[in-house]
Amino acid sequence: MKVDVLLGLQWGDEGKGKVVDVLTPNYDVVTRFQGGPNAGHTLEFEGQKYVLRSIPSGIFQGGKVNVIGNGVVLDPALFRQEVEALEASGHNLTERLYISKKAHLILPTHRLLDAAYESAKGSSKIGTTGKGIGPTYTDKISRNGLRVGDLLCNFEAKYKAAIDRHKEILSHYNLQYDLASIEKEWFAGVEKLKQFQFIDSEFVINDLLANGKNVLAEGAQGTMLDIDFGSYPFVTSSNTICAGACTGLGVAPRRIGEVYGIFKAYCTRVGSGPFPTELMDEMGDKLRNLGHEFGSVTGRPRRCGWVDLVALKYAVMLNGVSQLIMMKSDVLDGFDKIKACVAYKVNGEETDEFPFDVTEKIEPVYQELDGWKCDMTSMKSEDEFPEKFNAYLDFLEDYLEVPIKIVSVGPDRAQTIIRYANK
Ligand code: GDP
Ligand code: IMO
Ligand code: MG
Repeated sequence: MKVDVLLGLQWGDEGKGKVVDVLTPNYDVVTRFQGGPNAGHTLEFEGQKYVLRSIPSGIFQGGKVNVIGNGVVLDPALFRQEVEALEASGHNLTERLYISKKAHLILPTHRLLDAAYESAKGSSKIGTTGKGIGPTYTDKISRNGLRVGDLLCNFEAKYKAAIDRHKEILSHYNLQYDLASIEKEWFAGVEKLKQFQFIDSEFVINDLLANGKNVLAEGAQGTMLDIDFGSYPFVTSSNTICAGACTGLGVAPRRIGEVYGIFKAYCTRVGSGPFPTELMDEMGDKLRNLGHEFGSVTGRPRRCGWVDLVALKYAVMLNGVSQLIMMKSDVLDGFDKIKACVAYKVNGEETDEFPFDVTEKIEPVYQELDGWKCDMTSMKSEDEFPEKFNAYLDFLEDYLEVPIKIVSVGPDRAQTIIRYANK
């Protein structure tokens, strides 16, 4: 069997959590392969709303195996908060959530280093989530990291060496901190973490595949935040693209099946960095208010703009997207006109390729389309789609050369329409 991968094609927050939950009944295993608690994946069903950060979004559909893969970075303190919130609402996870021994640990000092590096950058800061993601992946790559499996063997000495090294680095920055209280929370988290089974997830996942089980890999962040291909340096510190699922789970490229690419009918970004189609006017405010575009975890207002087909086409190419999923189309329900960026003008030259230096001034070239001007939030089938909405879908499919198979018309699990028509 194959691993199907679902990932974001924009700058994150496309609605990955919602769709993973919707697709989970078709799978036996759901697994995260990169990122960490910088993610905030929102799920809504039966009048309840949940935000997941490190735990895969397959956790609510009973009887499925959920795995935190080796490519993830895990903060025990935040993990404990997440698990306890789910336990308080009646979800027991220990029998269905497994953690790779090779996932790296976000140490208490990684978060401090994240803060120190950001403040040292001044006005060119990345606007990270402050969760220690960059410093943890840096330690992984420089071969200084600690892994979940290390908790089981001679951990104290390894921990002390890492913390001493970090303290030395921190002494060069002007950062006030109370390490003892962060460590207290962190070690309470370690105790919680130890209630779960630590596994050799690459063997477990490959065995499950060999035994005919279906696996869904859930991406975090989005393609434009990828460490190699995103709007560098305003990116996260992992490979968010499809290739990241191979390294982040230990599955071979030929094991990858469907690649679901998910995007909003418009576009958002949180944190600093280039965003060619950003709207700094009333239209941007309108999108933010109608789309409730505020961070799932941090509450930070998200920057909003029109859909960027140059960036989306690049993302389709990098990921080998085989099916598109369009989210939040309902947010555009009342618009007379909708714009889509079909090319960039860089130094007066028009291009439809995402450029090397995205910090240069990019002028978007727009195509304007008619809005459909009707409430789609209670629609159940594609047969109900207004003509102008179908025209918008056709236009996107023609440009991106991939079929849009799912359309989301609201945040609830039930507000999801699968398209079956001859695509
Ligand atoms: P993720 O990080 O990709 O899982 O996305 P987030 O959860 O951070 O952000 C997506 C937000 O949009 C959440 O608040 C969802 O509840 C909400 N959402 C998802 N799909 C839709 C949709 O089709 N329409 C509307 N209006 N909201 C949606
Ligand atoms: P989900 O999975 C949106 C952004 C941060 C910042 C940059 C680097 O919910 O889509 P980091 O803390 O990773 O070092 O921050 O990446 N970022 C996200 N933006 N959604 C996310 O995750 C994000 N995770 C990180 O805002 O600009
Ligand atoms: Mg999110």
